[in-house]
Amino acid sequence: QIIKEQTGIIGLENRLKDKLNVKEVNIVEGDCDESDEVKIELGEAAAKALMRSLKEENIIAVTGGTTLGNVSKMVKPDPKHRKMVFVPARGGLGERVEFEANTICSQMANGAESEYHLLHVPDEVSDETYDMLIKEKHVKEILSLIQSSTIIIHGIGDAKKMAKRRKASDETIEILEKQDAVGEAFGYYFDGNGDVIHRINTFGIQLDDLTKEKRVITVAGGSSKVAAIQAYIKMGYTDVLVIDEGVATQLLALK
Ligand code: G3H
Repeated sequence: QIIKEQTGIIGLENRLKDKLNVKEVNIVEGDCDESDEVKIELGEAAAKALMRSLKEENIIAVTGGTTLGNVSKMVKPDPKHRKMVFVPARGGLGERVEFEANTICSQMANGAESEYHLLHVPDEVSDETYDMLIKEKHVKEILSLIQSSTIIIHGIGDAKKMAKRRKASDETIEILEKQDAVGEAFGYYFDGNGDVIHRINTFGIQLDDLTKEKRVITVAGGSSKVAAIQAYIKMGYTDVLVIDEGVATQLLALK
């Protein structure tokens, strides 16, 4: 806290909180694009934001990605022993298993010495597969748990990078390019105005599920994600924003 005051980070947090109209902004020094150390610190700051958000009973939905992977390594048992149940916000991500929501969910729960439930379905499915799997008892149960989550902690990706990493079809890539997609979160691709231009047919959290009753913690760092983060914030779902200084200074400078 003293270091944050000395470096002016607290002032930056307050100015951004007002500018972006979010309840809380947490900033770590540096830029994730330039140092892995900063990405680790971002994970730690987000884990602390999660612990500060706890109520007596908590169902915590978590997404995948490298950023959330770092958060999951920093989650600790709650000294007040409040109940935490972790669930993945989405199905498998079609990317490396260590970055899938299921893996990160189980890691967080282990760190917190808490319970977890997994969602064993692919991230992207056809309409026919969706209609079939949604009837499965296990899928139904876990989806209802995900929908009743009280806290959601998630990352934001750069649209092009995410489409490539998740091996999107040429057709999808064309749509994203034509419509100037800048970011991706929860399987939704959006443009600079925060308008959704494409969504993956996915199980788990949909944007409509991000209601005011849920506490949404958005974690993202690295200057290369500024456009994606700015656009996502415009959608108005974030309660707590955890970013790095590189992103923060640019967000403050933007109109
Ligand atoms: O949906 C967004 C991605 O999960 C972000 O992934 O943290 O590896 O950049 P990342």
